[in-house]
Amino acid sequence: MTPSVPTPSTEALEKIARLCKRRWDRHYTRAKLRSDPVYGAVMREIAGSTAPLLDTGCGIGLLSHYIRACGHTVPVTGFDYDERKITAAKHMAALAGHTQLSFTAGDARTTVPEFSGHVVILDILQFFTESEQDTLLTAAAKRVAPGAKLVIRSGLRDDSWRFRITVLCDYFAKLCLWMKAAPTRYPDAPQFRRVLEAAGLRVRIEPMWGGTPFNNFLIVGER
Ligand SMILES: C[S@@+](CC[C@H](N)C(=O)[O-])C[C@H]1O[C@@H](n2cnc3c(N)ncnc32)[C@H](O)[C@@H]1O
Repeated sequence: MTPSVPTPSTEALEKIARLCKRRWDRHYTRAKLRSDPVYGAVMREIAGSTAPLLDTGCGIGLLSHYIRACGHTVPVTGFDYDERKITAAKHMAALAGHTQLSFTAGDARTTVPEFSGHVVILDILQFFTESEQDTLLTAAAKRVAPGAKLVIRSGLRDDSWRFRITVLCDYFAKLCLWMKAAPTRYPDAPQFRRVLEAAGLRVRIEPMWGGTPFNNFLIVGER
């Protein structure tokens, strides 16, 4: 049976937004936590498990705050190649007084920290080449403990209008400097099945666009 998962109240999400030092981060956090279904989806996947979590390309660490607001207290390690975001993530974690949240700067194209537990990759694969995507997926799969999961959200390449909007918005994020890089290549569903099944995971892929216009999917690999 799937364990029941609490949904944080608007006040709890607002409390997370108020941890941000910069006004832009505060507005972004508020809007993102209220509208993006991905954090709740990750929470549902890991609910009831005590395995630690590795957040690849963690940004300012919103996932870790969301799961803490759900009462999930497993250790979280986040890394991102944007040092400004890591500084912000550390600041927010210290201000919140949460224990066992750690954030470090690191480039997922070259190194994935040694780890065993759940691994999460949200919205970063579009910045990688195909071979970098395959390498990261294989390295991430290796770090998934028995009984744990690799949880990915990615836009998938296809010929839908949603895909065209996803690409436009990723270019916009680069233009307004929220992202350090413009998108490089979007993966497709057969690529996930090929790479993750070869790494020994059972793969499930489902739409994850909620109320957004984006061509986002949740890809879950279980060991
Ligand atoms: C759309 S944001 C998502 C942030 C976070 N995963 C979330 O959902 O709240 C993409 C993140 O990937 C990070 N990123 C992009 N390329 C990366 C790389 N090569 N190594 C580590 N992080 C990377 C960016 O700095 C950014 O924080």
